[in-house]
Amino acid sequence: MNEWLTIAMPKGRIFEEAVQLLRKAGFPIPPEFEESRKLIVDAPEANMRFILAKPMDVPTYVEHGVADIGVAGKDTMIEEERDVYEVLDLNISACYLAVAGLPEYEKSDVNPKVASKYPNLATQYFKQQGEQVEIIKLNGSIELAPLVGLADRIVDIVSTGQTLKENGLIELETIVPITSRLIVNPVSYRLKDTVIDDLVERVAQVIGVEEQV
Ligand code: PRP
Repeated sequence: MNEWLTIAMPKGRIFEEAVQLLRKAGFPIPPEFEESRKLIVDAPEANMRFILAKPMDVPTYVEHGVADIGVAGKDTMIEEERDVYEVLDLNISACYLAVAGLPEYEKSDVNPKVASKYPNLATQYFKQQGEQVEIIKLNGSIELAPLVGLADRIVDIVSTGQTLKENGLIELETIVPITSRLIVNPVSYRLKDTVIDDLVERVAQVIGVEEQV
């Protein structure tokens, strides 16, 4: 039972909550862990190696098997279909995806543009709504797009709503609620099933849900 697990963690806002969850589940992760700027951090007492990736990239590391498991936002899982198992809703970093724009925004038929970090998801959403739009892919600070006239609307994550508010934007439509998920590489799950099942069970107990495999 001394098998090591490699865990891909998203840098940024989800990170701390995910680490706390693992600690509560009884995995001894050193206190200096959060302060490190290293991208690979070992927690030898927990038999864990963490790789710290951009949130959008976590599923890529897990799909390619360089990480056994990962913590990924549901948004990243919807955006791109991945060959990974989504085993547990961690119920952390709750937020939602929404369409937003300037308060004076009015729907027009003339070449409407939507900026987003989620081009596939946004395309699918507007198709379902029966609206034809041009999607402009951005990598961050999406709220800038309507302010400078790059797009009429945006599809983005809303958490506290502060970013929209401070930039004078309003929410126009809610798309889907988002939380972080525990994802597992299918081959790792076969080879390290005991240790992965143990982790999933312990984390599930902390968040008070039945295992969702
Ligand atoms: C996310 C999201 C919004 C903001 C929402 O961006 O894209 O911009 O957070 O949070 P709020 O509702 O609490 O204001 P993030 O900070 O991850 O950075 P990004 O703009 O580089 O994507």
